[in-house]
Amino acid sequence: MGKIAILVVDDEEVIRLGIQRVLEGDRFEVETCSSGHKAIERLQEKEYGLIITDLKMPGMDGLEVLKAVKALQPYIPVILITGYASVDTAVEAMKNGAAEYISKPFTPDNLLEKVDYALSQCAARLDKNDIVNDDDLPHGFHQFIGESKEMQKVYQRIMRVAATSSTVLISGESGTGKELTARAIHENSPRKDKPFVAVDCSSLAETLLESELFGHVKGSFTGALQAKTGLFKVADGGVLFLDEVSNISISTQAKLLRVLQERKITPIGGTQPEPIDIHLVAASNKNLKIMANEGTFREDLFFRLNIIPIELPPLRERKQDIPVLIRHFLKKYTEEIGKKIRGVAPDVQSFLENYSYPGNVRELENMIERAVVLAEGDIIRNEDLELWDDKKDTSSSSSLIDRIPMNSEELKEMKRHIRDHAIESLESLFVRNALERNNWNVTKAAEETGILRPNFQSMMKKLGISVKEHHWS
Ligand SMILES: Nc1ncnc2c1ncn2[C@@H]1O[C@H](COP(=O)(O)OP(=O)(O)OP(=O)(O)O)[C@@H](O)[C@H]1O
Ligand SMILES: [Mg+2]
Repeated sequence: MGKIAILVVDDEEVIRLGIQRVLEGDRFEVETCSSGHKAIERLQEKEYGLIITDLKMPGMDGLEVLKAVKALQPYIPVILITGYASVDTAVEAMKNGAAEYISKPFTPDNLLEKVDYALSQCAARLDKNDIVNDDDLPHGFHQFIGESKEMQKVYQRIMRVAATSSTVLISGESGTGKELTARAIHENSPRKDKPFVAVDCSSLAETLLESELFGHVKGSFTGALQAKTGLFKVADGGVLFLDEVSNISISTQAKLLRVLQERKITPIGGTQPEPIDIHLVAASNKNLKIMANEGTFREDLFFRLNIIPIELPPLRERKQDIPVLIRHFLKKYTEEIGKKIRGVAPDVQSFLENYSYPGNVRELENMIERAVVLAEGDIIRNEDLELWDDKKDTSSSSSLIDRIPMNSEELKEMKRHIRDHAIESLESLFVRNALERNNWNVTKAAEETGILRPNFQSMMKKLGISVKEHHWS
């Protein structure tokens, strides 16, 4: 039998080395790290047989490490080291699934005894077979379509995290299902009868966002005619979904960080902090780690949020899910729109299965909806997928060569024609995809592509693209 890998988490080097010296040998292989964040990073890369963590550490404490372990690798036993034997923390630790706790100071024998006990308990649990079968797909996942192994991993992660209150950071490109994921966490959590409150952090100005989140007391600023309950309070006991967190200003980030550390909120203009109990789920389609490295997002807040990461794979990386998604959306929209459509023409099907979907599932959904509306027969054809026309043009610019130029003038003229046409096709793809990614919101599309809104609009006009015909909701 191989050695059991043990991860020791403690901010004090003496303790880390002490434990390592006692345990390392024939039976165990010991790795150490100095903070909760680092431990979580390791846990995402490697499976351990046992975790030993100090309770009191700056930044992320042992209880948080414990919760994260339970979400990431739920069957690993965790031993908590407490500074002094306190019944409260011991109870709290056991409630959160710690196998054992050990109080400082301890002898090598103490430690070995606890380690053996924790490991034997874990083995007993596995024997008893009272663990969740990972292959069983949980209830309440009817909204999710797709059985690829990438999505199975997501479903499992959702189930595990739903059982805890560990902060979750959902990342993924636009349209990959971040909001769907947040709702699924709520639906599968013990908090499901408590509120699910979603806040789009990109849609509100800084001061408004703060008063939305934290609330304010009457008269705390000009215009605060009435007291307002913050959404943290509204979500109390339930799940608070902070969508597009990358858009929070640096100063609001600092306030958010404090709330997460203290689990208390003070309304703007208020003096009395109030305790809150929420499961925070955040989402971003920008990479917060890169933003943290660049200094545009607070690194400490990133760590606080990223306790349990859920990464949604882009649709082009799980192409096997496309056929079932097509069927699903066809059914949905034929029923909704009340048309009888039997299926999709083979060339359309093969296009849809191979397209790269910069706007992911949402883009596929919009394409099918549009096609169902436009379809004249009972089969979705090529011309029902408007977006496709552009692609045909770019892929077959040879069709533009309808004759062979006979002199230099004609050659020049035809070259210009082909070039203009190719550029227009490229621009059209660019504009449409930017719009698709941003749910046909012109302001957002312009911002994301770095083009001034009026210029973006005149490009749309030139290319004959209008929002109205594409966005029916
Ligand atoms: N796996 C899936 N199965 C079925 N529908 C899905 C799936 N993923 C996403 N969708 C649908 O795609 C649309 C977009 O999903 P959602 O709003 O959750 O994406 P998002 O990641 O939050 O996008 P954005 O970053 O643009 O806000 C929704 O209509 C959702 O129902
Ligand atoms: Mg979203």
